[in-house]
Amino acid sequence: MERLEVLMPEAVIQARIGELAAKINHDYAGKELLVVGILRGAFIFLADLVRRLEMPVVVDFVAVSSYGQATRSSGVVRILKDVDESVTGRQLLLVEDIVDSGLTLKYLSEYLRAKQPADLRVCTLLDKPDRRQVDIKPDYNGFTIPDHYVVGYGLDCGQHYRNLPGIYILHPDQDGGL
Ligand code: PRP
Repeated sequence: MERLEVLMPEAVIQARIGELAAKINHDYAGKELLVVGILRGAFIFLADLVRRLEMPVVVDFVAVSSYGQATRSSGVVRILKDVDESVTGRQLLLVEDIVDSGLTLKYLSEYLRAKQPADLRVCTLLDKPDRRQVDIKPDYNGFTIPDHYVVGYGLDCGQHYRNLPGIYILHPDQDGGL
């Protein structure tokens, strides 16, 4: 049987989101922010983050294809759902649950920069720099974590566990499968 080990309890995550929101409130004071979440993993983090933001906020989402590792390493990400909002001239904050290889974020930030926002920054809850394949660094990062497979708080394994309020390390079963 696979086993879940607590990495971050709910209270720790919520406290850190309060700190991230305080920084974002300071940096964007008096400006309207277009917050774009990357589906599906970012939906819970985005929901908690935006409720702590004090400037005018507009929320939008993008969805990208989840390819296998071979295709993903090419760096090409297919956009399944584009932004509905016009990006040009706006303060855009791209919200991720986790930055791993960095390929998703690199592709999406270049794609969105081509639409000429006034500013584009990235906020991620988790960062796994050990796995990075491209040079990309989030502007706001909740936690830097080691290279474990993590689930909960929006993150899945086979579409399960996203609803857990904390973040857990998923240990595979004895046979090595997940
Ligand atoms: C995960 C995560 C990021 C991406 C990070 O998404 O939400 O979008 O992988 O990996 P990278 O830095 O190596 O590109 P996933 O494709 O698992 O889809 P999901 O968000 O729907 O779970």
